[in-house]
Amino acid sequence: MLDTLRDPAPADENALDPEAMRQPLGNAWYCVGQAASLKRDALRAVELNGEQIVVGRDASGALFALRDRCPHRGMALSKGRFDGAELMCPFHGWRFGTDGRCRDVPTLSSADGSDFSRIQVQRFPVCESAGFVWVNSHVGPAGGEVPDVPALDFEPLGALVVELEVEASYDLTTLSLVDPGHVAFVHDTWWFRPSKELREKVKTFAPVPHGFTMASHSTTTSSPVYRLLGGVPEVEIEFRLPGVRLERIVAGAKRVANYTFATPMTGNRTLLTNALYWNIPGLNLLKPVAKPLMRQFLTQDQQVLQHAQAGLDRKPTMVLFGQSDLPSQWYFRLKREALQAALDGRPFRNPLQRQELRWRS
Ligand code: FES
Ligand SMILES: [Fe+2]
Repeated sequence: MLDTLRDPAPADENALDPEAMRQPLGNAWYCVGQAASLKRDALRAVELNGEQIVVGRDASGALFALRDRCPHRGMALSKGRFDGAELMCPFHGWRFGTDGRCRDVPTLSSADGSDFSRIQVQRFPVCESAGFVWVNSHVGPAGGEVPDVPALDFEPLGALVVELEVEASYDLTTLSLVDPGHVAFVHDTWWFRPSKELREKVKTFAPVPHGFTMASHSTTTSSPVYRLLGGVPEVEIEFRLPGVRLERIVAGAKRVANYTFATPMTGNRTLLTNALYWNIPGLNLLKPVAKPLMRQFLTQDQQVLQHAQAGLDRKPTMVLFGQSDLPSQWYFRLKREALQAALDGRPFRNPLQRQELRWRS
């Protein structure tokens, strides 16, 4: 999308395929829903990066993730039964362990020597962190390091989660997590942004593994959300590949974290998950009020992203302009480096440098 026309380069097997830059990072952890709502002996069908995946929790509480496709006739295994140990395909009853191996083909006669033990469903790495289930749907050679799964660094007393599907590409949606320029125009609700005036902002950005932070500072915002904490909170915002925004707010012993994750479902559909966690007992009372506000906030992004996607569908180019678009440029630089490092089989080298940015918002 950002590539300018160049002379055709000599064939280089380590040259980055421009198509790879248009796709979400393949070898990365993506959020596929809340962990608590995935009970023991239960299955959940999820769409990740164009792949149908069934995640489940076995009788011991362990998670697993398999391609949601029976190798026999392609039936979705998530439509079948799961007894906490084996999944049974509802079409012809083939049974699979949570490791993906075929355990039984019940229609085989005892006189039939066909060996089903080599039949296997693709298994994917899965883990649980910050209250969510994470899957890496990459198959093929490992190559490169994978950015860390987001974790919570305090014990939450409460949490609020809103999930919203956006009909927009992964890149466009992820850019909204690092784009300070849209906030004043898209998120102009009274409770988030009481003042309508654009103000000069100066923030220091610094590289961190696979991303960057907007360095910790005493916030000068007049947002009522921050005032709830009392005192002057320290706010740090981290962006990390593949599409993770971690906002951490600390005021003495009080902690609030606002995490946002982008998950590619298909080429034009992205799941946005927003989770707010806190360790302040009184905040639980605000849940009924806060949830619709959070949904409203995410819907504002959803609506504007869908309209912008329609424009990009007609002409897939964008202009990244001025300092408020530098974080968006950094996203593409980080992604390019992750792809190149994997291709070269070397460690990721963060291409960013500490920098002060100025913009109005
Ligand atoms: S399609 Fe699954 S058993 Fe036949
Ligand atoms: Fe936004």
